[in-house]
Amino acid sequence: MDNRASMGIIGTEYKKNFTANQVWYQLIPNKPLLIDFNRKEHMLIVAKSGSGKTYLMGVLAEEITRASQNTGVIMLDMMGVLPTLRIANTDAGTLHAWNQKMILHPIKPVALTNVEIWVPKGDAKEFEPDQFDTAFSMKANQLSYGTLCYCFKMDTLDPQTNLFRKIKRIVKKQNHDYTISDLIDGIHENREDLGFKIQTADALITKLDALVELNLISSQGIDLSEMVQEGKIVVLDLSMSERYTAKIIVNFLAEQLLKTRKKMKNKLLAAKSKKRLINRPTNYIPPVHLLIDEAHNFFPSKILKTYIKEGRNCGCKMTAISQSPDLERSVYANITHLFVGQLTFKDDLARVLNMIPVEREPKPFRAEVKDLDVGNFLYYDLNKKIEKKIRIRPRKSLHPASTEMEDERKHFIETYQQHDNVIEFLKNKGNVLMKDIPSEMKAECAKLIKTGKITAKNEGGFTYVELC
Ligand SMILES: Nc1ncnc2c1ncn2[C@@H]1O[C@H](COP(=O)(O)OP(=O)(O)OP(=O)(O)O)[C@@H](O)[C@H]1O
Ligand SMILES: [Mg+2]
Repeated sequence: MDNRASMGIIGTEYKKNFTANQVWYQLIPNKPLLIDFNRKEHMLIVAKSGSGKTYLMGVLAEEITRASQNTGVIMLDMMGVLPTLRIANTDAGTLHAWNQKMILHPIKPVALTNVEIWVPKGDAKEFEPDQFDTAFSMKANQLSYGTLCYCFKMDTLDPQTNLFRKIKRIVKKQNHDYTISDLIDGIHENREDLGFKIQTADALITKLDALVELNLISSQGIDLSEMVQEGKIVVLDLSMSERYTAKIIVNFLAEQLLKTRKKMKNKLLAAKSKKRLINRPTNYIPPVHLLIDEAHNFFPSKILKTYIKEGRNCGCKMTAISQSPDLERSVYANITHLFVGQLTFKDDLARVLNMIPVEREPKPFRAEVKDLDVGNFLYYDLNKKIEKKIRIRPRKSLHPASTEMEDERKHFIETYQQHDNVIEFLKNKGNVLMKDIPSEMKAECAKLIKTGKITAKNEGGFTYVELC
């Protein structure tokens, strides 16, 4: 069923045109790509670096919270580029070009107000207090053996895993709200009675110590129902985090979200079968959409595999964003929407070719994917077996462009003034001997020579500088 209100506008089909030495994209108004976000469907975005994956991730977040208002969104941001969802897009040219053609789907710049920035507790010191809203931490009793195994590449049948499981059980009986230190004490006290070797205990304690150092585990933990709320986007900024922190968090979230949503669904089904209305539980979490940037860092993972496989039934959706299609088969088997941006490696192209639901000749397909420009993707609906070549719509909110280094300078008043001082000095003096540049201006002067704003010439054994 085509439910208009829950349809999100992602982009439109286009034609690539050339004028003189410029490329422009002719947007085709009656061929938009609309996705129904009320459906329980996973998505995958694959493309090489710099081709517009994170930009598209932002478009999806904007549309999910608009079109499916009962959904909570969590975005795992490995680069720290998503907090700008709270700033309106300033790229008037792109917005104008879209709005001129796509009159049925106009896009206005919007500073999203439903965004919260979270950072892992152990990394909060790397941020200014006004850069984030909430510090993320988990309780020791929320650390599952699945996450431990995944994080430290241990087998489920490893003696260390077995010891961890047994100690957890013993310590939990004494104190439900135990800490990692309680677990370590428990290992010391019970290791011998349980029949484990000292080496096993030491190796497990080393891993638990490493977790303590990450400072991710606290006595309070977080309340998932505070994090996942209808219409709210939580950006979890992992840009300053260790690989372990990111891995633990991704697994923790996937595991806890799935578990909690399964309980919600069972409660609801029980009430439905008895034709009864029930109160919303205090720890209620709504359907949730987890968007994972740089997802290739987190596969293979049993927990993510389960999330993808079982999640759809209970409203746990995922969008995985990856530079390489080298993920697990289980991911491909469960996704509905596939976006393929520019890829250049032969093996990546071969994998994608195997995944798509339509027959394509390998050679022209490879050429087409290699030729895709930034912001352009081949889109596939793997259920409906549809293929479209689309240009992603402009963002409502700002996506920081990594190349805008000049713009960055303006925000650092001190450097900007130094730059002005040097330029002013040279404007007044003209051609100046390098040794006569005042010492406080020397560093900035050297930078300006490197960037080509000032030239340095050697004449008669002396270096002279002047404005270009
Ligand atoms: N649809 C688009 N319209 C206009 N500009 C875009 C679009 N998509 C991407 N860009 C521009 O291209 C640049 C790179 O985009 P983005 O950061 O999304 O790439 P990426 O694929 O996530 O790269 P990486 O793998 O390095 O993270 C951005 O700075 C953005 O300004
Ligand atoms: Mg990116």
